[in-house]
Order: sequence, then structure tokens, then C-alpha cells
Amino acid sequence: MRILAHLSDLHFGRTDERVVEALLEDLSRHRPDVVIVSGDLTQRARTHQFAAARAFLDRLDAPSVVVPGNHDLAPFFNPIHRLFRPRSKFEKHLPGHETWPIWRDDQVVAIGLDSTRHLRWTSGKLRASHLDHVDAVLADASAEAVRVVFLHHPPATALAGHPFEALAERGVDLVLTGHVHKAHVELIVASHHRSCVLVQASTACSTRLREDANGYALISVEPAAMTVETRGWSGERFHATHRHGFHRTGSQWRHAT
Ligand SMILES: [Fe+2]
Ligand SMILES: [Fe+2]
Repeated sequence: MRILAHLSDLHFGRTDERVVEALLEDLSRHRPDVVIVSGDLTQRARTHQFAAARAFLDRLDAPSVVVPGNHDLAPFFNPIHRLFRPRSKFEKHLPGHETWPIWRDDQVVAIGLDSTRHLRWTSGKLRASHLDHVDAVLADASAEAVRVVFLHHPPATALAGHPFEALAERGVDLVLTGHVHKAHVELIVASHHRSCVLVQASTACSTRLREDANGYALISVEPAAMTVETRGWSGERFHATHRHGFHRTGSQWRHAT
């Protein structure tokens, strides 16, 4: 069994420092094997915001993997950078967190995809090149490994690209997204014998709240079973808000009864 912590939309530059400290404490108490961050680490892709994001990742007791979100690209008010070097600060300040990150061990392979579009602001895209990359990585993965894909944009904001069912068709078990600052867990059903679990995380520690409190997901995975616990900020501490159980038969994930 492995425990994955899924964080999104940290937005350094607009963080609540009490929540940041409580989040680090909660993560250290649950001892995840890896922390997966699905984008928007910064508010405006400024150097000091990337430095704060880097410092946060360095304080984790677990390894981390991250992909950029739309807020991590050079802003439109800096058009030269936006057009020609949109990810330069992300790559400079988060070394080792390149735009095609992979975390794997003998039980899990987690593949990061950069769904941002530098000529658009909020919408993302699941591209054919992403699917080719997933195919190539999974071709080398052990049959027992739980297969995870993480990207910033959830299905509703990645309409320009392939539907997320394409990931379930490729044997992906779990998809992790963010961007809309609202926790949500559902099954993505590609066909009567292929499905996967989608987990969308709220904003982990920013004051950019929409319909949801700050939160993240703690996910325990085994080859044929998965538990997704969403954890939310109560005003004093993080606590479990929902638990979703799933089990797998063949290539199909279902809600556990
Ligand atoms: Fe965000
Ligand atoms: Fe976003």
C-alpha cells in the first residue's frame, strides 16, 4: 500500500500562513509516501512566490512532484516572456520538477502532464502528445503498479483537448487535478469495462476560496483498492471531511459498498 497526498493551488503570494503551517503539520502526521501537487503553486509567477513554494516543498518530510498551473506561467503583462519563455521561472525555481515529471516505485507510477496553454488563461488541454507520453511510460510499468496521472485542469476546463475517458482507456487508475478550488471525487467511466477515479482538490492553503474551504486529499492505493480521504480546514486544523472507497475488478473501478 502507498499513501499519496494530493495538493493543489497553493498560490504562494496569497497564502494564509496559519493554514500553511497546519498543512505541513497535518502532512507530517500522515506520513505520505509522496506529495503530488497539481499546479498553481504561485499567485503571479513572481520570483519570491516561487521561492516560497520551493521553501514549502523543502519542508515536507516526503518527496514531491509538481506540474505547473496557469498561474505559474509568465503573466500576460510580460508578453515577451509569456510568448517565448512562459515556464522559465517554474523550471528555474523548482529544479527537478520539470514539466514531464514522474514519480515511481515498485507499487505506483505517477505521471505529471502540463495542461497549461500559454495563449489562454483559464482553460487547459489534454493533448495527443500527453496521451502518447502516458502510453510510453505505462508500457514500461509493472503490471501490479497503480497508475496515476496528475495535471492542473479538470475535465470541465480542459474541453479543448481529449476527454479524460482517454486516460481510463489507457489503464490509468487515478487522475488528480485542481484549478477550480473545489474538492470533488468521482468515477470516470470510459466503457463498461474501463473506468478510473478522478480526484479534484480544493486550494490547499490560499485565501482564494470559492465554494470550498482549504483542503487536500490523502489517498491510499493498492492494486485493487483505493480510499480517498478529503481533508479540510476547520478554522483550527485539518480534519477528514469525506471518505470514498473504491475497488477494482479487471480494469474497472467501482464504488466500494
Ligand atoms: Fe488556482
Ligand atoms: Fe488554475
